[in-house]
Amino acid sequence: MISVKFLFISFFIFLTIISVNPYPSTTKRKAGDVAVATFPYSDNINTVTGEINFSETEDKKVTCSGQLNSGFQNTHPDNFDYMIIDKDDKIIKDLTEKLSNVINITVPGTAPFTYQFTDFYIDEIVGNWFVVRRRSDVVAGKAPIKKV
Ligand SMILES: *[C@@H]1O[C@H](CO)[C@@H](O)[C@H](O)[C@H]1NC(C)=O
Ligand SMILES: *[C@@H]1O[C@H](CO)[C@@H](O)[C@H](O)[C@H]1NC(C)=O
Repeated sequence: MISVKFLFISFFIFLTIISVNPYPSTTKRKAGDVAVATFPYSDNINTVTGEINFSETEDKKVTCSGQLNSGFQNTHPDNFDYMIIDKDDKIIKDLTEKLSNVINITVPGTAPFTYQFTDFYIDEIVGNWFVVRRRSDVVAGKAPIKKV
């Protein structure tokens, strides 16, 4: 016969398990995942517009390819920062060092660029924002990263 005590303890173990992990984890690396950050249209040449794609490859990399069409008033790569931030403006990934090596600025925008990241996966960045900042810390453009 199963004792009441046993049932009681089982119940608490069960509660502990579900409280530690209330939802089954859905964030993982999966080849074929694609996300896009589209900067909203602006007719202000100083605001970043354009699009950045992220796609998860078979060899555990994230290919980032994009082109920005406005928001870049000068060609010096050191004047711009590229970040993924959350809704509270907390930096999740600082991509500046890597992206500033491959982004060629062609005022008022950039040439098409591509870079393969190995230090994050799509589900980690979805739901956050891609932001381009001028070195003066002014936001030049901000786009939500959405899974597609
Ligand atoms: C992003 O991906 C879409 C869909 O594949 C494509 O049409 C678009 O040209 C890509 N944009 C860039 C900047 O690579
Ligand atoms: C950036 O432009 C320079 C000079 O035109 C060129 O040599 C270089 O290959 C370009 N880099 C990229 C990543 O397109």
